[in-house]
Amino acid sequence: MIDVEKCKMTRWPSPVLLEKSKPIDKIDDSIRALAEKMKDIMVEFKGVGLAGPQAGVGLRIFVASEDGTKENAKVYINPEIVLSGSIVTNEEGCLSLPNIYGNIHRSSKCSIKALDLEGKEISENAEGLRARIFQHECDHLDGTLIADKFSTVAKIGARRKLKQLRENYEQHKDA
Ligand code: NI
Repeated sequence: MIDVEKCKMTRWPSPVLLEKSKPIDKIDDSIRALAEKMKDIMVEFKGVGLAGPQAGVGLRIFVASEDGTKENAKVYINPEIVLSGSIVTNEEGCLSLPNIYGNIHRSSKCSIKALDLEGKEISENAEGLRARIFQHECDHLDGTLIADKFSTVAKIGARRKLKQLRENYEQHKDA
């Protein structure tokens, strides 16, 4: 059972962000409440996607909304992603790594199979920003963050901000 009241924006280096998330075996009201909460967190922090671990829950679920609105936020449960197209490089950020940006290589296209909140199978082909969001969020479910994919130079550039985040985490983790 998920305590949705306790779900909140989770930042690096919280362990849940670094672990592989578990599949959801039953889509019930607590999962629906979690999805609703995740949409709210995504909108509050002005993101275009949010994965379970970013709400502090190590389950394979993410929400995505290209324009950042709640109305257009769609829920993907137990997603399976297949990459295609060419490799494109673009700058990315992540709500769990505030104020840290870097170039990330991604596939230009992908297709995704997942379940919706009714447990129905959904299948989507994506390109452009949507394909990038899908890949970024699926990475989260495997414990991979953008900083893991940064170039050496970008990693050095992010070092000070990562140090601050670590200090912040150490100070607040028991709160
Ligand atoms: Ni992210």
